[in-house]
Amino acid sequence: MSIFVTGCTGYIGSHTCVELMNAGYDVVGLDNFSNSKPEVLDAIKELTGKKVRFYEGNMLDRELLEKIFDENRDISIVVDFAAFKAVGDSVAKPVEYYINNVSSVLTLLSVMKEKNVKSLVFSSSATVYGDPDTVPITEESRIGGTTNPYGTSKLFVEMILQDLCKADKDFKVCVFRYFNPIGAHQSGLLGEEPNGIPANLVPYIAKVATGELDHLNVFGNDYDTPDGTGVRDYIHIVDLAKAHVNGVKKLEKSEGGLQVYNLGTGTGYSVLDIVHAYEKANGIKIPYQICPRRPGDIAECYADPTKAREVLGWTATLNLEDMCRDSYNFAFKKK
Ligand code: UFG
Repeated sequence: MSIFVTGCTGYIGSHTCVELMNAGYDVVGLDNFSNSKPEVLDAIKELTGKKVRFYEGNMLDRELLEKIFDENRDISIVVDFAAFKAVGDSVAKPVEYYINNVSSVLTLLSVMKEKNVKSLVFSSSATVYGDPDTVPITEESRIGGTTNPYGTSKLFVEMILQDLCKADKDFKVCVFRYFNPIGAHQSGLLGEEPNGIPANLVPYIAKVATGELDHLNVFGNDYDTPDGTGVRDYIHIVDLAKAHVNGVKKLEKSEGGLQVYNLGTGTGYSVLDIVHAYEKANGIKIPYQICPRRPGDIAECYADPTKAREVLGWTATLNLEDMCRDSYNFAFKKK
């Protein structure tokens, strides 16, 4: 039995391949390296002693998807990560985002139907909650009100998956709404390598830590939060990756239908909490300046992870110090 992982060399995809393979699953992988590098496949092999059955290409390529299912008849579950994820970029290029993040999933689902593989773990995002009415956010909280095409693309796919599960009772879908994954594999062999200047907080701090950027811009200190800076639910990438093993096992036992889980720790940290934790974990200084708010940002977003714990049997185990240490370790090795 094998698992087909799309976007297998990306940040979350690569860490998940390691956890799936270490849990005994074989992995068939697809990526077009639009935001990752082929060397990631070597790192996965080093960490697991096994090779991903890898295909290079785009998920919009229907013939390629058909070939992958035909050549790997043991695929029983698909874990779909392949997507663009830069919020700012999505505002500038909505059509490209909807094609890449929505049309590609439609192509995948249609090939899955044709090949009679009807189990899917889908990577969604806490961004589908928009600006939440209250925190912590449960899976029953209102979704919608997304503020950018990236977020809307995730919302659209969730709705498509709901309709699909209503129409075809054999489909089993597990939707994961990720909060803010950060950090890197403890080995330093895998991590997040954004192209250009990072848009997200921790990759940006990592570049300040290694001296590639000279200070962090803190986007706003006048939010209604304890220290005025934005609060998020940061989760170690390895904890997040491990949840996919629980998701796959849950689908193996499921009868059909759609299940949704928040993946977070349940604790919110502010931007300044992260700066101070990074400094303490690594014995360094992170210079920062307070700047105006970033358009589209919300004050607070953190998960209620009870459902994932009670139903999936998964809970995050690594703490903020682990996240900051592993982020720095990876950034330093890559510098
Ligand atoms: N921030 C800064 N300076 C920076 C970058 C970020 O102060 O240079 C602040 C932001 O204002 C925010 C916090 O750090 O308060 C976290 O920002 P990120 O960009 O790291 O993360 P977001 O919460 O904005 O967005 C992330 C992902 C999205 C996803 C969303 C889900 O980037 O893909 O979480 O809630 F949709």
